[in-house]
Amino acid sequence: MSNPQLDDGVSRDATPSLLARAAAGQPGPYPPVWFMRQAGRSLPEYRELRAGTAMLDACRQPELITEITMQPVRRHGVDAAILFSDIVVPLVAIGVGIDIVPGVGPVVDKPIRETADLDVLRELDPADVPYITEAVRGLVTELGPTPLIGFSGAPFTLASYLVEGGPSRDHARTKAMMHGQPVLWHALLNRLAVIAREFLRVQIDAGAGAVQLFDSWAGALSRADYERYVLPHSRAVLEPLADAGVPRIHFGVGTNEFLDLMHDAGADIVGVDWRIPLDEAVRRIGPGAVVQGNLDPALLLADWSVLEREARRIVAEGRAAAGHVFNLGHGVLPDTDPAVVTRVVELVHSLGH
Ligand code: CP3
Repeated sequence: MSNPQLDDGVSRDATPSLLARAAAGQPGPYPPVWFMRQAGRSLPEYRELRAGTAMLDACRQPELITEITMQPVRRHGVDAAILFSDIVVPLVAIGVGIDIVPGVGPVVDKPIRETADLDVLRELDPADVPYITEAVRGLVTELGPTPLIGFSGAPFTLASYLVEGGPSRDHARTKAMMHGQPVLWHALLNRLAVIAREFLRVQIDAGAGAVQLFDSWAGALSRADYERYVLPHSRAVLEPLADAGVPRIHFGVGTNEFLDLMHDAGADIVGVDWRIPLDEAVRRIGPGAVVQGNLDPALLLADWSVLEREARRIVAEGRAAAGHVFNLGHGVLPDTDPAVVTRVVELVHSLGH
């Protein structure tokens, strides 16, 4: 793992954050903690702010982005913020017809089926997403020492939406293209990798202190298919960012059969879902592994006694890693009581290394 250079100017704080220290395998007083989907529907202040504004419109307003990103930081005292945006934002910014339908997710006007359909996927220019640059710059100032995590959807997960036309349980059309039209498949993922990399670079250039590549649906694939059809493209996103000086987190759900490959793609931190213990994840990734995870999001709805036991277990198992970033195995569920999230943060902070 490359040791991130943290004093590279921009407006990042000179003292490495707990997140950066964990990424570099340097123990801190306790594992840094943040939650995927910490900004969003579990927070009443979010619902209030978002009322009457469509998701993609909200994602283009720097003031809204800033406020929604800050809400969970203020409320929970987490050790990192994640930019309020969505994985389809860079695609919408270059003109792809996509809407985010409440309760459904991203829906695509014209799914990608043939080579001519790729024309819409031109390269992303920073000028396409001025609201991202503006929001990140402002947030980095407002957050002070707390790092802002920028993110992008990974090529496979983006391709799944574009090929299926919307959310999918079985990813059947996506897999059919992967195996049946491999030339088209690789051309599609090539283009998505360029867009994802540029989207991450825009956020890093504006001061993001870490980036996460979300390959949420890669767990639908076998190890062999991941290695052949996906890994080269995710590597094309992450590898060129090795010198950017910020930790690179690589996350998927159901990807425990190929955590080592996700690490090899160019990740400093590998996200782990709840299906295996963190010490087993470390064994699979190899010596020096730094992991993020892995509380089952459903457990935030369980009794505190159960939740506390599980959080303690995860912190204990995380000690097998060179660094551990406490998180969920996937995003916060909408029905989660925010007070419980705060309580988990306090608990993890009380469990020193
Ligand atoms: O707090 C955060 O994590 C930051 C914000 C964030 C959102 N989407 C906001 C959002 C992040 C990091 C994402 C990433 C994202 N978007 C992923 C990868 C993460 C994951 O969960 O696996 C994926 C697969 C998407 C696609 C997407 N966008 C889905 C599945 C949905 C939910 C649809 C629904 O309504 O059930 C969205 C919409 C979305 N993105 C919402 C939020 C807060 C809900 C929209 C709303 O509040 O109206």
